Amino acid sequence: MFTKRSALAIAISSLLAATVSLSASAKTTLKLSHNNDKTHPVHISMQNMADEVKKLTNGEVVIRIYPNSQLGNQRESMELIQAGSLDMAKSNASELEAFEPVYGAFNVPYLFKDSEHYYKVLKDPEIGGKILESTKGKGFIGLTYYDAGSRSFYASKPIKTPADLKGLKVRVQPSPSALEMVKLMGASPTPLAFGELYTALQQGVVDAAENNPTALTLMRHGEVSKFFSEDEHTIIPDVLLISEKSWAKLTPEQQTTVKQAADNSMMSHKELWSKMTAEEVKKAKETLSVEFVKVDKQPFVDAVKPMHDKALADTVIGPFVKKIDAAR
Ligand code: GCU
Repeated sequence: MFTKRSALAIAISSLLAATVSLSASAKTTLKLSHNNDKTHPVHISMQNMADEVKKLTNGEVVIRIYPNSQLGNQRESMELIQAGSLDMAKSNASELEAFEPVYGAFNVPYLFKDSEHYYKVLKDPEIGGKILESTKGKGFIGLTYYDAGSRSFYASKPIKTPADLKGLKVRVQPSPSALEMVKLMGASPTPLAFGELYTALQQGVVDAAENNPTALTLMRHGEVSKFFSEDEHTIIPDVLLISEKSWAKLTPEQQTTVKQAADNSMMSHKELWSKMTAEEVKKAKETLSVEFVKVDKQPFVDAVKPMHDKALADTVIGPFVKKIDAAR
C-alpha cells in the first residue's frame, strides 16, 4: 500500500513538474529600454501598460522596463531592436526620424494647433496608425504614442525672439529636422544624447537646450538653466516600439492584448501627463527658481516656415503633413 501511494505521489509530482516547466516555457519576457527616470509620467504609463498585459495574459507575457538608459541611449536601443537583441524601446519621434524618415512628419515646427488637434492625429488610423505600421518589414513596429508635451528653449537667459538665439550652441536631439529648425532660428545646433545633456549644460559645452518642462526637474536641468522661454516650437510624441522578431514570438491573442494595453495606456497617459507636468512646473519654479518666460511666437513661426513648405513637397512625409494640416 505504502509503496503504491508513493508511486502515485511520484507520478503526480512529476506530472506537476512537467506542467510547471510547460507554463514556464510558455512565459515570454520582453525587455523594454528607455531614457527617462522612473518617476517620469511616460515610465509610469508604460508600467501601467505592462501591468495590464501581465494581468490579461495570466502572467504569460511579462514586460520588464529598464529606465534611465540602463540598456543604452535611444539610438543604441533602436540599433539593438533592429538587430533583434532587444524586444522593446520607447524613443522620441524626433530621434526616430534618423531610423525611419516617416517619423519626421511629427518634427515639423508649429504643426499642431493644440492638444485636441494632436490627439486627433495620433488616434487617426490613416495618420498616426499608418505611421506606426509603416516600418513593417524593417525590423520594428510602433505600438502607440505617449504625449511628451511641447518643446521650448531653456538657457541661462530668456529667449524672447530668434535674435536671442544668435551665437548660442543649442543641444538638439540627433535628428535632421531638429538641426535644421535651430539653424533657421539663427543658433548652432549640437546633437547629443539626452543623458549627456546635464553635464553639457553645466560645463558650457552647450548654452541652451529645448524640451518639455519635466526635463527641468526630472533630469535636473533647472539646476543649470534658470529661464524657460515658452515658444513651444514642436509637439513631438514619444513612441513605443517592439522588434518584429519579438512580436512574432507572441500568439495572435497576445499581440491583440499588447496592442490594446498600449492604446489604453496612451489614453490614461493623457490625463497623467497634464497633471504631472503642472506639478513639475510648480516644483521648477518653487524649488529651482526657474523663471517661465512668455514669448510672442510669431517671429519663431516665421523663421521656420520654410520647413513646413519643404515637408509638404516631400514624398515620404508630405502626404502625412497634408492630412495633419487638414485635421486642424
Ligand atoms: C523628451 C523625450 C525623451 C527624449 C528627450 C530628448 O524628454 O521624452 O525620450 O530623449 O526628450 O530631448 O532627448
